[in-house]
Amino acid sequence: VPPPPLKIMISGAPASGKGTQCELITQKYGLVHISAGDLLRAEIASGSENGRLAKEHMETGQLVPNEIVVMMVKDRLSQTDAEQNGWLLDGYPRSSSQATALQGFGFHPDLFIVLEVPEDILVERVVGRRLDPVTGKIYHLKYSPPETEEIAARLTQRFDDTEEKASQYLYICFCFSRKVKLRLKTHNHNVSDVLSMYDDLIHTLSISIKGNRPKEEVFTQIDAALSEMLQQRNTDPSSL
Ligand code: AP5
Repeated sequence: VPPPPLKIMISGAPASGKGTQCELITQKYGLVHISAGDLLRAEIASGSENGRLAKEHMETGQLVPNEIVVMMVKDRLSQTDAEQNGWLLDGYPRSSSQATALQGFGFHPDLFIVLEVPEDILVERVVGRRLDPVTGKIYHLKYSPPETEEIAARLTQRFDDTEEKASQYLYICFCFSRKVKLRLKTHNHNVSDVLSMYDDLIHTLSISIKGNRPKEEVFTQIDAALSEMLQQRNTDPSSL
């Protein structure tokens, strides 16, 4: 009997590189990428009342209330593709109550990854981030520039990344978007709560990854941890 598919959670401050690493992890391991932020942005785009409420919180860098987020994530994790192929949950849980809710529904991660990146680097990453609305791919003007002029011309910025479309990095650092600072504050407050909860679970391994390196090097660290975990599951099924 093959071991059950992998279940992974990835956590980190805004712009620590979660989405970027998720692209690389899913390419290699075929897990279903479920991003709480993407689910919320889709809800906003649908024009629903929940989407309207979510946007109010996201604009001010606050966590969206659990009443909206928890069921959204639970429903997505319960879909057949995630059950069959395994999942990579990005940006959830962000508080111990969210972690507890998921445990209550029977979703236990095998691995909890925390990306650690110094705050000054996070600022530069947010300011330079661009998204391709056609492919969904994440770019950075300096670190991951678009491959063609055509892609460059259609790139967009996320509504919560920056208030003013100022183009000079130093200027933005100086009067840097309050939204991003608030998102950082919320993250720092919650991450230690969530970590200590997963540390207590026998079948969940927690690892901290240094995210202040080129994305390929960050992925090499994650890849090594995943390969080791898979090898252990194959040779010692009792570890599951
Ligand atoms: P969410 O969409 O999850 O945003 P976030 O946590 O703020 O994280 P980001 O998506 O901004 O960054 P990322 O870590 O994915 O970095 P990326 O790979 O893009 O959440 C948004 C909001 O939704 C929250 O503020 C909250 O309001 C709400 N929300 C979400 N989940 C919730 C929950 N569970 N409960 C309640 N509310 C919730 O990289 C950033 C940039 O850096 C890119 O340009 C990239 O190209 C570049 N980059 C990445 N890696 C590297 C590298 N190694 N070197 C150089 N550049 C790099």
